Amino acid sequence: MHHYSQGKVHSQAHKGIKEDCYEEEQGRDGFYGPVSHLVKKAPSPRWKNITGSLKPRMYNLNQLPQSSSSWQKLLYNAFVEIYYLRQKKSQNLKTIKGFRNANGDLIYFCHKGKGEIFTEYGLLSFYKGCYIVIPKCLVHSFIFQEDSEFFVIESLSGYFKEPERGMLGKHAVYDIQGLQKPNLSLQQQRQKELSLNIREMDVKKAGEITTFSYDSDIYDVVGWKGNLFPFILDIKNIMPVMSHRAHLPPSVHTTFLAPEFVVCSFVPRPLESDSDSLKIPFYHQNIDYDEVLFYHAGDFFSRDNLESGMMSLHPCGFPHGPHPKAFQSVKEKTKTDEYAVMVDSRHPFKTDENLSSMELKDYWKSWQG
Ligand SMILES: [Fe+2]
Repeated sequence: MHHYSQGKVHSQAHKGIKEDCYEEEQGRDGFYGPVSHLVKKAPSPRWKNITGSLKPRMYNLNQLPQSSSSWQKLLYNAFVEIYYLRQKKSQNLKTIKGFRNANGDLIYFCHKGKGEIFTEYGLLSFYKGCYIVIPKCLVHSFIFQEDSEFFVIESLSGYFKEPERGMLGKHAVYDIQGLQKPNLSLQQQRQKELSLNIREMDVKKAGEITTFSYDSDIYDVVGWKGNLFPFILDIKNIMPVMSHRAHLPPSVHTTFLAPEFVVCSFVPRPLESDSDSLKIPFYHQNIDYDEVLFYHAGDFFSRDNLESGMMSLHPCGFPHGPHPKAFQSVKEKTKTDEYAVMVDSRHPFKTDENLSSMELKDYWKSWQG
């Protein structure tokens, strides 16, 4: 379909929007496909009532029971599952097992805590704010040096890939050289220091756990080569793509791609400096995707009453965007100061029943001003 317009429109998206009007982007394929901009007299999320279940949702994951030390399923469909994992500091290293996930690839985003991960490929060190990427079926064992919490993304649809950088060049967004790779010799040294001898592994397949037992340490690799291995990406090593002149779509913040969903990272960046540019996210319908946002750290100024550890779900079917107060608060700011992880899924998310008790029931009213 060729480009077409009616009425009064601005020539550059997200810039020079008619005074007292609001721009709303309607995009297919996560803003890569056909896209249009509507200029409206009032933002679409000003709804007074919603009857039915299709609503923007907000959950406070800090309200998960503090005693729980397990995987809490949050959202799921046939292609991706999202969990919250809370673990206490490791006390008895003799009880540590290996874990092999035969369901799919895992990304553990560390929200709190620190520690080490033993893998078949070598040692990784994790800490707050890093993505730990463990490909399907690769054995790993955590040693938690502090109580730790993770936002976990499980891909059932295929392995995670880097985003295409296109004309940005190969080293934009994050440089592969900067990834933390597993260190085999350091792991062998730590095995001796800790007298670690792990002889059991749990294998997760189709939701069931099977335990395999051995009479010697399962971490016995003496060498390896190849391009399949676990690694860590520090969210602080992400170099956000931006334009000082016009707001760019969230797709520029893509960190990992899976066949049916994407993972994006929002990190601090300067705000646009042109006087006629939009400085807060534009109202939009991401028509083909359900959007999940996990708020990790910082000042989430585009939304009211947000705290670290909350998670929003904006299913496709309605537009969303900044809260009314953001238009005022942005005037005092020159940069964003927030870290958040987004999962955009092509297929609708189902909600685990346990989420209901953590839901902020009036979130859908929060655009009413
Ligand atoms: Fe969105």
